[in-house]
Amino acid sequence: MKPLLYLYLAIFLSAPYAFPAAVQQQTCGSPATVEDACKAVVDTQPAVGYDFCVSSLGAATSLVKPTDLHELAATAAKLAISHATATESKIEELMDLENDATVKSCFNTCLDVYTDATDRLRDALDNLSARLYQKAMAQLDGAMDAADKCEEAFKESKGSFPLASMDKDFSRLASIAHGIIVSIE
Ligand SMILES: *[C@@H]1O[C@H](CO)[C@@H](O)[C@H](O)[C@H]1NC(C)=O
Repeated sequence: MKPLLYLYLAIFLSAPYAFPAAVQQQTCGSPATVEDACKAVVDTQPAVGYDFCVSSLGAATSLVKPTDLHELAATAAKLAISHATATESKIEELMDLENDATVKSCFNTCLDVYTDATDRLRDALDNLSARLYQKAMAQLDGAMDAADKCEEAFKESKGSFPLASMDKDFSRLASIAHGIIVSIE
């Protein structure tokens, strides 16, 4: 009994000091690290891949550390936006070099799809900033379709799919933002 009594006494005495710290940890410290956030993301979206999640979010947060999941989600959404605009530029570049009319029209479909995805991602970021998490997730869901729609367009051309890796990364980045918002909810 005695050791237990001392333990209670110790907890009681340290309580005024310990509790403010504990409360702070729960509100601000709930998994805001890239590693914890990525673990939660791959729990619901295994296709993202833990290493991809950590390396992309890690690079994006190396200068300014997000303090909470909300900021981390915004960082992920911004990453997806810049990837989508980079994909748009890449599509325009490849389309200019393309002589085959069928392939050119596939690129054109992808360009439309990515332009729409970029708009949706910007809405998602606005919604996220306003803490309208359900709306933000709905926009991200809509944006994520871009990768599939773009790949689908190329099925008709019967050639290789030149945007495969950019397309795959885009859906993974959008999934990271989505997965982090799920864990805020
Ligand atoms: C939220 O997203 C919608 C699109 O669903 C957009 O029209 C609206 O401007 C956004 N609202 C805010 C406050 O960000």
